Amino acid sequence: MAILEVKGLGKDFGGLRVLDDISFSLAEGTVTGLIGPNGAGKSTLVNLIAGSDRPTRGEIYFFSRPLHKLPSWRIARLGLARTFQITRIFKDLTLRENVRLAAWTIGMRGQKLEAEVDRLLALTELADKAAVLSNDLTLPDQKRLQLARALALQPKLLLLDEVMAGLNPVELDKAILLLNRLRQQGITMLVIEHLMRVIMNISDRVIVLHQGQLIADGQPSEVVGLSQVQEAYLGSRYVKSKAAEMEVSGLGGMLNAGNQES
Ligand SMILES: Nc1ncnc2c1ncn2[C@@H]1O[C@H](COP(=O)(O)OP(=O)(O)O)[C@@H](O)[C@H]1O
Ligand SMILES: [Mg+2]
Repeated sequence: MAILEVKGLGKDFGGLRVLDDISFSLAEGTVTGLIGPNGAGKSTLVNLIAGSDRPTRGEIYFFSRPLHKLPSWRIARLGLARTFQITRIFKDLTLRENVRLAAWTIGMRGQKLEAEVDRLLALTELADKAAVLSNDLTLPDQKRLQLARALALQPKLLLLDEVMAGLNPVELDKAILLLNRLRQQGITMLVIEHLMRVIMNISDRVIVLHQGQLIADGQPSEVVGLSQVQEAYLGSRYVKSKAAEMEVSGLGGMLNAGNQES
């Protein structure tokens, strides 16, 4: 069953067409990687799905229910949670207070609430920092906290926007384990991530955006081998001259090297 259906979705900012005629659906329980060069429209797509921004054209259905006119807080209550590429947390609160607030907004109270906060802090490896002010966190910890807050909403669908940026290789392996654990719990995920190692490890399927268009959709190993995907990342001249020596790992290397700023 499709948990999410996106139909003919488009977004203009002034005269700029940032997303054009995007259609896809997500099957329940699956993990889909969303990749594409900087500026492709990935964050905009997540913003539209989560209700942080309104589509110019098209429709979005979550469990067959139209989302494209609902405010983001109603969408969150229906079981759709997201993280932001630019971290949004309450910096004057401790980690524990941040996670508690998220669980509180969906109606959890008392012992059940505290136990859930403990579980989420442990799951995201933040338990030893529970009393730290969120303002004092490193960027990777801020991202973990966002994930804990998103999970506190008990989502059925989780949209992750570069939640692993800035992690070192050991932390990255742990993050991959964590996402695989979430998938085992049945949480459907749409994961924006630049690191191809992560995408290849966790995705059942990969969709590729380029200049606001969906240019590929398929199995991870198929998609990274497609010439239109390699051209989107590397430019057509490079691909033509290097076609013979291109490999999947080569694409991964370019992605990592080219996106250090985010
Ligand atoms: N609020 C906005 N106003 C105007 N242009 C925007 C806005 N948000 C994003 N854009 C533009 O939309 C395009 C896609 O951005 P974005 O969705 O952030 O890409 P990605 O996440 O794939 O890097 C970019 O050209 C960006 O400058
Ligand atoms: Mg982005």
